[in-house]
Amino acid sequence: MRIGKVLVTEEQIRSKLAEMGAAITEDYRGRDLLMVGILKGAFIVMADLARHVELPVEFDFMAVSSYGAATKTSGVVRILKDLDQEIEGRDVLIVEDIIDSGLTLHYLLRNLEVRKPASLEVAALLVKDGVERPPLDIRYEGFHIPPEFVIGYGLDYAGRYRNLPYVAVMEEGDEEVPT
Ligand code: IMP
Ligand code: MG
Repeated sequence: MRIGKVLVTEEQIRSKLAEMGAAITEDYRGRDLLMVGILKGAFIVMADLARHVELPVEFDFMAVSSYGAATKTSGVVRILKDLDQEIEGRDVLIVEDIIDSGLTLHYLLRNLEVRKPASLEVAALLVKDGVERPPLDIRYEGFHIPPEFVIGYGLDYAGRYRNLPYVAVMEEGDEEVPT
């Protein structure tokens, strides 16, 4: 496997996250915002998006497993790490790296709704087009991409490539040898 075509550049991500952060700042002014990052993939989006949110926001994280080391979703979502705090009455914004089958998000929304937050919205950097998924209301969307397996900006293949500063398609072929 190797790094293929770049779908979203570092610069495109930077300006999109600034836009999304500005929108979040407007929408949540005067409210009690808790941003919830879904680990591990969302850790980079969370860090960069959060710095464009000019509000006294709090942070929490959940870790869920969906893929294992394979590139196709299993449909089984397991909570590996739950929130540290209660969210009843809080304005919760889930931060995701990518929406593919939507199964992870669908599960998370159902799981968090029963805890009675004041509001529950979603911000996702990437949404895959051409994928059948349950109807999901994604309040803050970054980019729509074709239904290919991508890496970078938090997204991994078998645990690697999360630190690429852009989003690229993963290609079949020999591993790239660092020079
Ligand atoms: P979904 O449940 O199918 O929507 O997938 C959700 C999770 O699967 C994401 O949060 C990612 O961690 C992972 N994922 C989905 N598509 C990709 C991809 O193209 N590359 C890497 N990880 C992905
Ligand atoms: Mg993953």
